[in-house]
Amino acid sequence: MKADMIITGIKTLYNPNQVPPVKGFNMSKIENIDNPFIAIKDGKILDYGTHDCHGYIDSKTTLLDAKGKICLPGLIDSHTHLVHAGSREHEFSQLRQGIPYLDILKQGGGILGTVEKTKAASFNELYLKAYQSLNTFLSYGITTLEAKSGYGLSLDTEVKQLMVAEKLNQNHPIHVVSTYMGAHAVPLKFKHNRSSYINQIKQDMEIIKEKKLASFVDVFCETGVFDLKETKEILEKAKALGFKIKIHADEIDPLGGAGLGVDLNASSVDHLMAIKDEDIKKLAQANTIANILPGTSFYLNKPYANARKIIDEGCAISISSDYNPGSCPTENFQLIMQLAANHQKLKPEEILNAVTINAAYHLGLDKEKGSIQKGKDADLILLDIPNLSYMLYHFGINHVNDVIINGKHIIKS
Ligand code: NIG
Ligand code: FE
Repeated sequence: MKADMIITGIKTLYNPNQVPPVKGFNMSKIENIDNPFIAIKDGKILDYGTHDCHGYIDSKTTLLDAKGKICLPGLIDSHTHLVHAGSREHEFSQLRQGIPYLDILKQGGGILGTVEKTKAASFNELYLKAYQSLNTFLSYGITTLEAKSGYGLSLDTEVKQLMVAEKLNQNHPIHVVSTYMGAHAVPLKFKHNRSSYINQIKQDMEIIKEKKLASFVDVFCETGVFDLKETKEILEKAKALGFKIKIHADEIDPLGGAGLGVDLNASSVDHLMAIKDEDIKKLAQANTIANILPGTSFYLNKPYANARKIIDEGCAISISSDYNPGSCPTENFQLIMQLAANHQKLKPEEILNAVTINAAYHLGLDKEKGSIQKGKDADLILLDIPNLSYMLYHFGINHVNDVIINGKHIIKS
């Protein structure tokens, strides 16, 4: 078979572990291949390695010389709040004065402030803003991204957000996976009648399912938001409807959301800055991924999740941006990886497994994405740096020169 494209001149290909979930000590293992070729056919990896590739070439094959760049699989951001209106720079100074994030929310600001703006925004406004953000993510090497709703808290606006994400998935080169997050906050009018809001979420989920607008349901399990019992009630209904589930767990207070996630067989439990030791042990026995979001700790000036301990105890981690207007307003995914290296003491190999194969696994995409393997989608990035460690050392800037998604050369150096 002849290839549509052959990439040569790659200094080193860094490929994560092929068998997810990659846990504990295995997170330090990756495959390094010097001077390989990668052959692409019909948007998929046809072959790769150091053997002779001339048999794949005919007059129609595009030859791409990487000119000594390194190659990685496309990066996967498995936790974002992509679709929203407006910004919250006014809260930035409140946070810096020491006003707690949850107090801003209690007073109707925070998430609830973004809800007001998102309700008022048109489909097109939301689409254009999110499209711009995806372009920035793309330039930093993101080829797959999860996008949550949760800035509507009412069916019409949640559906609007999810339909924006659906259209972005159709029109933007980045593959977008959608999550319904009506349980992101309790609207003020339901403050004294929480159970009615929970019932509304349970009904709305049925409609979201019918419309096929989301694969996952997520709940913000936190003091003053949804407690453990409410989280369980919502997620049990989500599972019964056939959704896969996630939890914003143990972000600020150690409520035990991570342990609940294991009990409910969640795909991921996310944040974990305040995870209990017993729940780390539970996670190590499970296939639920610990999704670490260091950009949120950085922006909120909070402690980082103890990712070193989480891996050393045998768990599988992924790393995501949590991109959102209130607790992590950045699309610079390489900065997120650098924070994990520096503040969470993670090795380059662990970070690579976290942002590729483990992220693909908990998004249910590991058969087609997350590593360079024959038959998988040809999602690749080329970086003009000498090695993988350099990417985490030279921080704050973009090292990605080329992005290929489904075999298409989207960003060219
Ligand atoms: O993951 N924790 C809850 N949700 C987001 C923040 C959303 C916001 O502040 O707008 C998060 O940090
Ligand atoms: Fe989040």
